[in-house]
Amino acid sequence: MNETHIVTIERHIIEEERRRGASGSFSDILTDMAFAAKVISRQVNMAGLVDILGGTGTRNVQGEAVQKLDVFAQDVIYRAMDHGGRLCCMASEEFEEYIPIPDKFPAGDYVLVFDPLDGSSNIDLNVSIGTIFALYRKVSDAERGSLEDCLQPGLQQLAAGYVVYGSSTMMVYSAGRGVHGFTLDPSIGEFILSHPDIRIPDPPVRSYSVNEAYFDRWSPAMQRFMTDLKSGDASWSGGYSARYIGSLVSDFHRTLLQGGLFMYPADGKSPKGKLRLVYEANPLAFIAEQAGGAAIDGVQRILERTPEGLHERTPLFIGSSTLVEAVGSYLGSEG
Ligand code: AHG
Ligand code: MN
Ligand code: MN
Repeated sequence: MNETHIVTIERHIIEEERRRGASGSFSDILTDMAFAAKVISRQVNMAGLVDILGGTGTRNVQGEAVQKLDVFAQDVIYRAMDHGGRLCCMASEEFEEYIPIPDKFPAGDYVLVFDPLDGSSNIDLNVSIGTIFALYRKVSDAERGSLEDCLQPGLQQLAAGYVVYGSSTMMVYSAGRGVHGFTLDPSIGEFILSHPDIRIPDPPVRSYSVNEAYFDRWSPAMQRFMTDLKSGDASWSGGYSARYIGSLVSDFHRTLLQGGLFMYPADGKSPKGKLRLVYEANPLAFIAEQAGGAAIDGVQRILERTPEGLHERTPLFIGSSTLVEAVGSYLGSEG
C-alpha cells in the first residue's frame, strides 16, 4: 500500500460525519470505542503472560462464569465512555440493569449497548474473541437516560460495530453508509482501513456455521432445513463445509467476508435461543443488512423486534440473503 493512502479509523469516522452532517459527539463515541479496543487488544494479546487468564469465581446476570478479561473489557469500555458527556446511559451483558452516567459527569444524547467480551469460553484456549457494540439516540424524556432508551428496536441503531481479537485485531463498523473494516497496526497503535465497503458475498462461499451437537434438540423444521442444506435438491443445497468457532464475533466475521449462514436456533434447552437481542443480534444484524445480507429470528427481521428486556434472548440466522431467506421459508412455516 502507498504510505500516503493510510486512512485511520479516526479519519474515516470524521469523513463519515461530514458526509452525514452528524454531530461531533457521535464521532467521538466511535473514536473512544476504537481507543478501548486498542487497550483490550493489548490485554488479550498478553493474557497468557499476565495473571488475567481464568475466571473471577463470580457469575454474571446470565449465570455464566465471569472471566477476568470480561471484567477488564467491561471496565475499559465503561471508563472510556463515562466522562465524555455524550452518552445518557449504557447497557452491558455484564450488568443486570442499565448503567447510568455518574452524576459528576454531564449526560448526552446517545446510548451505548455492548457485549464487552464475546466468546468468553474461548479466552483460556487462545481462540479468537470479540467485542460487540451499538449506538442509539436517546428517545426518553428522562434527562439522564432510562431503560426505555436501551430497549429500542434495532432499526433505531445509528451505528454498530464489533472488534475481533484474532490473528490480527480488526474493528468493523457501520454508521448507516456501508460497512468498513480496520486492521490494528500495533507498531503505530492505529486502526488502518483495510476492508472498505464490505459486501456479504451472495452466492456465498458454501459454508454454514451452527453447533450441530444440538441437532436432536431442534424443531423438525430446523432439522429438515439442515438435511436439505447438506443434501437437498434446492439451488442452495449441497457442497457445504462446516465452520463453527463458538465465538459469535469470529463466526460472524467469517460469514461477513465469505458469505454463508450463521445459525443459533432455538432448541429444547434454549427455547428462545442463546444469543442476546440487544447487544449481540441487533448490532450484527445492522451490519449484515448494511453489507447486503440479512438477519432473522426464524420468523421476522431481527431489526424489527422491540426488546422487552436488556438480556432477552433470540434465535439468530444471519448471512447471505439467499440462505437467510431459505431457512426462513422452513421456520416461518412453523408458525
Ligand atoms: P458470551 O461469551 O458473550 O457469553 O457469548 C458466547 C456465545 C457466542 O459467542 C457463541 O456464538 C455462543 O455463545 C456459543 O454457544 P455454544 O457453546 O452453545 O455453541
Ligand atoms: Mn456474547
Ligand atoms: Mn460476553
